[in-house]
Amino acid sequence: MMDFKKLIVFISIFTITLPTAEANSIRLNTRDLSLCLHIDEDGLLFLSYFGKKLKDTADYYNQVKTPIYLDYALKNEAYPAAGGRTFREPALQITHSDGDINTELVYKRSEYKYINENTEAVIVYLEDRKFPLEVKLYYKAFKQENVFTMSSEIINKEPKEIVLHNYYSFYLPVNANKYYLTQFYGSAAKEMSVEEHALTHGMKSIQSRKGVRTTHTENPSFLLSLNSPLEENSGEIIGGALAWSGNFKLNFELDEFNTLYLSAGINSYASEYHLLPDKSFYTPEMIFTYSVNGAGDISRNFHDWARKEGGLYNSHEIRPIVLNSWEGVYFSFDEEKLKKIIDGAAEIGVEMFVLDDGWFGNNFPRNNAKMGLGDWQVNKEKLPNGINGIADYTVSKGLKFGLWIEPEMVNPQSDLAKKHPDWIVKAEGRTVPLIRNQWLLDLCNPKVQDFIFQTFEQVLKLSDNISYIKWDANRHAQSIGSSWLPSNKQSHFWVEYIQGLYKVYERIRQKYPNIMIQACSSGGGRVDYGSLKYHNEFWASDNTDAYQRAFIQYGTNLIYPAIATGADVSNNPNRHTKRIIPFKFRVDMAMTGRMGFEMQPEDLDSSQRALAKEAVINYKKVRDIIQEGDLYRISSPYDKSGYYSIMYVTKDKKRAIFYAFCLDYNGIAITPTFKLNGLSDTKRYLIKELNSAKSILGANEKNIAGDSLIKEGININLRNSYESIVLYLESKD
Ligand code: DGJ
Repeated sequence: MMDFKKLIVFISIFTITLPTAEANSIRLNTRDLSLCLHIDEDGLLFLSYFGKKLKDTADYYNQVKTPIYLDYALKNEAYPAAGGRTFREPALQITHSDGDINTELVYKRSEYKYINENTEAVIVYLEDRKFPLEVKLYYKAFKQENVFTMSSEIINKEPKEIVLHNYYSFYLPVNANKYYLTQFYGSAAKEMSVEEHALTHGMKSIQSRKGVRTTHTENPSFLLSLNSPLEENSGEIIGGALAWSGNFKLNFELDEFNTLYLSAGINSYASEYHLLPDKSFYTPEMIFTYSVNGAGDISRNFHDWARKEGGLYNSHEIRPIVLNSWEGVYFSFDEEKLKKIIDGAAEIGVEMFVLDDGWFGNNFPRNNAKMGLGDWQVNKEKLPNGINGIADYTVSKGLKFGLWIEPEMVNPQSDLAKKHPDWIVKAEGRTVPLIRNQWLLDLCNPKVQDFIFQTFEQVLKLSDNISYIKWDANRHAQSIGSSWLPSNKQSHFWVEYIQGLYKVYERIRQKYPNIMIQACSSGGGRVDYGSLKYHNEFWASDNTDAYQRAFIQYGTNLIYPAIATGADVSNNPNRHTKRIIPFKFRVDMAMTGRMGFEMQPEDLDSSQRALAKEAVINYKKVRDIIQEGDLYRISSPYDKSGYYSIMYVTKDKKRAIFYAFCLDYNGIAITPTFKLNGLSDTKRYLIKELNSAKSILGANEKNIAGDSLIKEGININLRNSYESIVLYLESKD
């Protein structure tokens, strides 16, 4: 490992003047990785290396010379600005105070920062050659997780306002022979679908222009496999995820020299930003990691980082089993109906009852999605004893209580819309298209931020027994305009909306650190590390079809951890897909994430109820493995084998939980074999099948060597579509 004291000496040398030929490098290490920057004779900053950890004395910076084809382009710039010799997508593009549209960033100095035992950072100071325009690049290294983050700060020290056109967080040149991009796509109720393709020359961008619910279609994350297509357990992979809940853009630009330039950050689409003198613009963090051991490592790195380094809110707390009222009753309930659900949930062993949409509005009662949104007073007809009545009842039955809100939105038919038309996002003289009969509130406006914060507070005051809030957001931003922003700053809307939202989240988290909050956003609409920082979990999708959940959760968990992945058992036929799936398969699938239910328990027959109870008992015993352990993917739903199989293993490899789901019939003769590669090859494991009265497994209750389970695998009589198996493995070694 590089001696960081040496690095400090290096850095303090070049804090004074431009670096000398000897002191022209900056290196940041994690446990297994190195990221190196290099400053050339002209003061330009290059990324000289990102990959497996270099030895202390490696002369890595000698590899990088300003390329001989300088006339055509610079190579490996670390954060290029538009202007000078830059041709490619610039990380930064500015119109300066005098109208000059060129920026040439040169290195000034850097600062090493020890943050804690696990985290070190370097701040690199750059400045334009002509103007006092400063850029700080923040690189952080999280050692144990092998994760880096990068973001930037743009500081206007010019005498007048400047305009930012591009202001990315992240820029990374990569050199390989071939590049295979795995990206996420989909739609509402089919989120995080996975697709891989080889990158060709030119620019590939993944972006959102929706403002809100930005992750239904694309997600601000990716996996990039170098030289060969993505493999689970081998191959060089870079993974990235942007911590931003608004419009984002990820670019993959393959140039004439076969170098791939990754850039990522806030989408500059219609978002010119006017930066006043002496003001800073901070870009969100990009989280990125690398492995030579395939996608499995990349996911585990992200999950560890999210759980240990604040990527996910309160990640040290085990998540409760939830029953959410939505698919059980939708808008149609009263106190009696809810009490029956709570009784049923208590009998099954559920720990949290969440009352979804429909509990509020009196002048405009919320009996459907057409009215009432914005009027956060309890509907007296449905709940004559208030939220308190139902929350107290829930707690008296031994469960915690949660409540749904959608505070960023308003129905035209509501007291709020009539009282505050100025709070609605709209362009003067234009009609705003309704989505789900609702408008968006203008979070750029501090008064709206206050309103949303106060709504949160008032809702919590409805009962001392509210422990959980489900935060929904069911529309995108369209035909945007803010009556708060001045006319020459309307293009700030997309950025300031999310900054406003984050300010509200910050205030909420300061005051209510212990309330659990779910990021719902129509299910799957706000699955990003910008939002997860404030949320305990997310609702992965409104699609609760357990077959489709194999695909949705497989994709989601490539980047985001199972502890945060809301996965509920719902009724047959499925609301969206109309598919009919055996109860066991639905239960087993929910157990791969943060288990929950969306139904009226009285809909279950006696054998289903018995299985639900058994599964809940089992989940409570093993959930620490699922929520805190390492994920190993064994068979992908995408690989056409017809099986989805994963396992979670504790860090000490003493306990594991294995799942296999048959997605498709493979003929009469085939019984699949799964290699349990997350286990230790020096331990023996006692295998026990869960959620099944009669085991279908030959190895059930047997003590088998990990070595054999890893190499030979385990053969399971799993042949019919929608059959599934869950195994618990424990080692006394
Ligand atoms: C969309 C969410 O994803 C659902 O779970 C439910 O909360 C509805 N909104 C309520 O309107």
